[in-house]
Amino acid sequence: MSTTHPLRRLTYADLPRVMTIERRTFGTPWSLAMFVLEVSKPTGIHLAALVGDRIVGYVICSRYDTVWHVMNVAVDPDARRMGVATTLLEGLLERIQEPEPRLTLEVRRSNAPAIALYERLGFRAAGLRRRYYQDNGEDALIMWRTPATLEGRMDDVPNAGPVAFGS
Ligand code: COA
Repeated sequence: MSTTHPLRRLTYADLPRVMTIERRTFGTPWSLAMFVLEVSKPTGIHLAALVGDRIVGYVICSRYDTVWHVMNVAVDPDARRMGVATTLLEGLLERIQEPEPRLTLEVRRSNAPAIALYERLGFRAAGLRRRYYQDNGEDALIMWRTPATLEGRMDDVPNAGPVAFGS
């Protein structure tokens, strides 16, 4: 079932709740200091999704040069598969006030739910970072969402190459 969830900008006061979701979600969670650093960047877009007044998910996105980097997305385990992450990422796209934004992210190669989510929103796999995750040596899939990927091309994606799954 997909519903929409109110979004608002993350504040420092939200970070204890964000840390709770982060720790429930990731084996190697971000530290509070990492969230503080990202949320302090004025050019970034950092959103919370709400059910009532309770935060159930968040997205952290920072702009480096001309590219938007989706740094972190997580939804409380109790609130998954209800469209929260979709709402967060669509809200992010709406708030990027550029005509043809380019976004990128890294995701664990084994993270099929997240890869499916990103593909539905127009991201495409464009390369691998070998052994990117230090906890288990897993590869990162590099995904991009650009004007070209939205039309099935890769010609505005830096160093794009075919990704062989399962190798
Ligand atoms: N299995 C398969 N596909 C899934 C999925 C799952 N467990 N979860 C999401 N998807 C895909 C589906 O296509 C889904 O659409 P559908 O429900 O109509 O089939 C689509 O993504 C949108 O799902 P949505 O409900 O918006 O996602 P969510 O709010 O459950 O959040 C994650 C998705 C990945 C953010 C959430 O599972 C999560 O927090 N995971 C742990 C953290 C993580 O992996 N973050 C990304 C790191 S790069």
